[in-house]
Amino acid sequence: MREWTRDERYRVLEGPEDIRGLYDSIRKSAWRQLYHVQPVTGLSSDPNGFALHKGIWHLCYQWCPWGAVHGLKYWYHVTSTDLIHWRNAGIGLAPDCFYDNRGTHSGSAISDGEELIFFYTGNHRDEDWTRTPYTCAAVLGEDNRPRKLDKPLFGPRDDYSEHQRDPKVVYNEAKKRYYIFIGAQTLDKRGCVQVYTSKEPLSGWQFAGQLKVPGYEAFGGMWECPYIVNISGRDVLIFSPQYTKLPGRGESTNHNVYLVGRMDYDTLTFTPEGPYRHLDYGFDFYAAQGAASIGETDKAILIAWIGLPDNHYPTEEEDWEGSLSLPRELRIVDGRLVQTPIPGLKALRGAEIAPDGTLPAACELEFTAPEGDFELALFTHADGSGGLRLRYDAAARRCTVDKTGMDKRFNQQVGEVLDMPLDAPLEKLRIFIDRSSVEIFANDGEATFTTHLYPMEGEFHTTLTGGSLRVWPMERAVTDEFVL
Ligand code: FRU
Repeated sequence: MREWTRDERYRVLEGPEDIRGLYDSIRKSAWRQLYHVQPVTGLSSDPNGFALHKGIWHLCYQWCPWGAVHGLKYWYHVTSTDLIHWRNAGIGLAPDCFYDNRGTHSGSAISDGEELIFFYTGNHRDEDWTRTPYTCAAVLGEDNRPRKLDKPLFGPRDDYSEHQRDPKVVYNEAKKRYYIFIGAQTLDKRGCVQVYTSKEPLSGWQFAGQLKVPGYEAFGGMWECPYIVNISGRDVLIFSPQYTKLPGRGESTNHNVYLVGRMDYDTLTFTPEGPYRHLDYGFDFYAAQGAASIGETDKAILIAWIGLPDNHYPTEEEDWEGSLSLPRELRIVDGRLVQTPIPGLKALRGAEIAPDGTLPAACELEFTAPEGDFELALFTHADGSGGLRLRYDAAARRCTVDKTGMDKRFNQQVGEVLDMPLDAPLEKLRIFIDRSSVEIFANDGEATFTTHLYPMEGEFHTTLTGGSLRVWPMERAVTDEFVL
């Protein structure tokens, strides 16, 4: 693993020539994906500023241009008309002023029909490296580039630690007010959410209080990327608690969970109506964000970072890392969240391949499970050994996913075997494979499992002990152009 100095990680991008060489070299990687948003160079992490505005989907990602390292963060902007085909639009936000001198950190966007407004965390650090997070805004210009406001909307509160960031803005129709949820940490290091409110998106923001979540007063040390959405009359709180281990999640201390419940904007209380659940059971899924202004109330559209804050991936050697998940639709069915890939993805399918035990590097699989226990292995060697093995225990209604058989092992310290528990018997899986990522949707979306995976030559085979598999190669949908 390469060692980076702080100056290297926090180098300011002066112009395209600084990274054109990196761009040219990473494009040659066999692990570059065809239909997932991935970093133009360097590292991509959280999805930011995800919103529908005047018929265009805007999406940004946290971006460190220099390599597979978390350093100076920019927002890199991509756009789409269908959530499937994405084009690079260039730098969205650059850390170029006092308030964000050490990074334009995560945030969101909202459209009022006329303007698309971005809210982000200006990560200021002084010479002693003391951090002051500011909540800042920018408005999309005619040239499709966000323009920052001169001054932050508000600064941090001194009755919390330095961890106050990731503004997620929502408009509450009943109250006719905007709300910003900020991921935060109390002075005694408990994760929480601060709530700010205003009648106007660009001024008048007041601290309304700390969100009360009964039963979750001591659940992790920091709640990153909070998001509250109403779907079909039920409220869902999604957040990424960190600095804690959770049962069944190996040694990882970073998670992405959700609660279904009731949000009371008068008392700022989110009352859970059931236990927390993992948004995704895979090895790599974090900082999920729902799209704003989609104009529908029976679903949300969510996208996440395929990755975790403390993990390292084999593409470090190639100076890039990370990608975004496929957008997924969230619905409430029987009081719980159901997640399905956006329907239009079927358009990327090429002609179905007769199953011969080989696996295209970018494909979609549909697996129909047999009765009882089974094992499905992807990316095995030709003799059936190794690979990513999914074992289903019908009595326990549990799918265990084991990546220890892959030639390229990584993040062994957090665990390479995880369970995906199910409520209903497992009947089918939809699996999206894209050169270095795998996303599994179980049954009709009752559970999902997302992971990076870095198959090597000779590992493109499948084996199954029962059931049947359909395979479609997937077409390229994400242009990988060099746009800054
Ligand atoms: C989550 C996170 C956010 C922060 C951003 C910085 O992965 O730590 O809390 O704004 O990444 O890149």
